[in-house]
Amino acid sequence: MHPIRCLVTAGPTREFFDPVRFISNPSSGRMGFALAEAAAKAGWEVTLVAGPVALAAPEGVEREDVVSAEDMFRAVDSRFDACDILIMSAAVSDYRPREIQPQKVKKSKLEMTIEMEPTRDILKTVAARKTPAQYVVGFAAETGDVVSYALGKMLAKNCDLMVANRVGGPVGGFMSDDNIVTLLGRDGFREEIGPAPKTFIAGKIVCAISAALSLRA
Ligand code: CTP
Repeated sequence: MHPIRCLVTAGPTREFFDPVRFISNPSSGRMGFALAEAAAKAGWEVTLVAGPVALAAPEGVEREDVVSAEDMFRAVDSRFDACDILIMSAAVSDYRPREIQPQKVKKSKLEMTIEMEPTRDILKTVAARKTPAQYVVGFAAETGDVVSYALGKMLAKNCDLMVANRVGGPVGGFMSDDNIVTLLGRDGFREEIGPAPKTFIAGKIVCAISAALSLRA
């Protein structure tokens, strides 16, 4: 039996439109790094694909740094078939500028329009070829009816577990140390966690994955 191989993504992506400017989001990467640490502590072999963040890789974790959604797609796509678990906690940009100008854009007009096009949906693309032995975890950052949106995303993206996260409130989300999440399993499993530190929530998520995998065995 080989050790359980777990691929984790974390942080934002950057979508450049000229050599010095990009579109991104405020993801700190803390949730993904905490997950990589908890997974390594569980004895799993962990690879962490990280967007640009100011965090050190947890001990014993292999790290690949990426910048854009397309870079992250290539890193995940090339590793997915060899992994047992994918935890897709990165805040991937949904859109990218249609063109990257080779020179810095000069301030010559009063208005500027950047044409955007969708990035590839990494989770949806790789999870579509998931084998029955693989376990895929997605994240859903939502406002409004968080649980029903997250359940819809779980089916649309072929995930086994969805971590639903209310964003825009006083606790939790991108920049915070704490988070409140609802774990939603494909099998009907449901658990509310928090408000609690992201490290605690990461431990709970790894426990839920372990329990689901041991039920399968
Ligand atoms: N995701 C991805 N590739 C993208 C966008 C998102 O793999 N290009 C992943 C995220 O890492 C997360 C899940 O898809 O695990 C859900 O991301 P989210 O931004 O909540 O959903 P979207 O599909 O982007 O839908 P919307 O923004 O309309 O809610």
